[in-house]
Amino acid sequence: MEDILINLSNCRSLDELEDIKIQALGKKGYITVEFSKLKDLSGEEKKDRASVLNNLKDKFNEEYNAKLKELKEDFIKNEAKKDAFNFTYFDQNSKSGAFHPVMITMDRIIDYFIRQNFSLEEGPLIEDDWHNFEALNLPKSHPARDMQDTFYFADKLLLRTQTSPVQIRTMKNQKPPIRMIAPGAVFRRDFDVTHTPMFHQIEMLVVEDGDKISFANLKYVLEEFLKYMFGDIKVRFRPSFFPFTEPSAEVDISCVFCGGCGCNVCKHTGFIEVMGCGMVHPNVFKDVGYKNVSGYAFGLGVERFAMLLHKIPDLRSLFEGDLRLLEQFK
Ligand code: DAH
Repeated sequence: MEDILINLSNCRSLDELEDIKIQALGKKGYITVEFSKLKDLSGEEKKDRASVLNNLKDKFNEEYNAKLKELKEDFIKNEAKKDAFNFTYFDQNSKSGAFHPVMITMDRIIDYFIRQNFSLEEGPLIEDDWHNFEALNLPKSHPARDMQDTFYFADKLLLRTQTSPVQIRTMKNQKPPIRMIAPGAVFRRDFDVTHTPMFHQIEMLVVEDGDKISFANLKYVLEEFLKYMFGDIKVRFRPSFFPFTEPSAEVDISCVFCGGCGCNVCKHTGFIEVMGCGMVHPNVFKDVGYKNVSGYAFGLGVERFAMLLHKIPDLRSLFEGDLRLLEQFK
């Protein structure tokens, strides 16, 4: 009978432990059978034998529980070892990720303006008609609304067609002076070789008290910025129209593909359009309750900048998620 206790102390696994328990306390187990034999004994003999068996059973249970605890702890330790992460392991064949060219371009532009103390502002992708259009001097009947094919929801909500509504939100929440940029996704119902239904813009706005700000300031700021982005290029301003600026201009840079000599990309003009800009329209200041201020703004398409910077010929390749494109930007 001492055998059961010896087996217990030699036991090495949870399965083995279970077997030993059955051998001792199961229906046909040693201790159970010995207890059942008590009925054949009598008097002192029965009492003595019962006491021996009870002691054995207690001792068995005590050692069994200790062993169970020990083996369970070993089991957990071994499982943990199996799953352990080897931090020194390096797989030569593993693939690493890369930032998307649109994000690389966006970060570069943001970085430029943040260094000059511009704040980074955000607005919702689902905008209301007032912020996206009306407050930007685009009343309901204004023909310029057709310039932007809009995704509408019910209840005067829409997917913002431009980052310009962030100008409105920022002016409503802050007082001049304001120097802000607002990067983000915008949406238009448009899909062809040069348009995708979602793309990214960066908006810039500067507002100062009084009439401190002029178009000459805007021109200087943009020329410096575009030279930082594209290097040694020519910058050209063309009169244009945006409802929220007056005067308005479109900005061209000399073609980065042909250096301005004329090619298919610039349609042999030597210049490529890169952004819209202008002096903030007085009606916009009126809508946000600003008096006696002046300011300028611009809006640019990040995909276009990315294509020009990295000489990517087809806009759609930026949205296909093809790893062969991304791998070139590691
Ligand atoms: N929001 C205009 C667009 O999406 C771009 C733009 C033009 C923004 C002129 C401006 C601006 O802030 O001054 O076409």
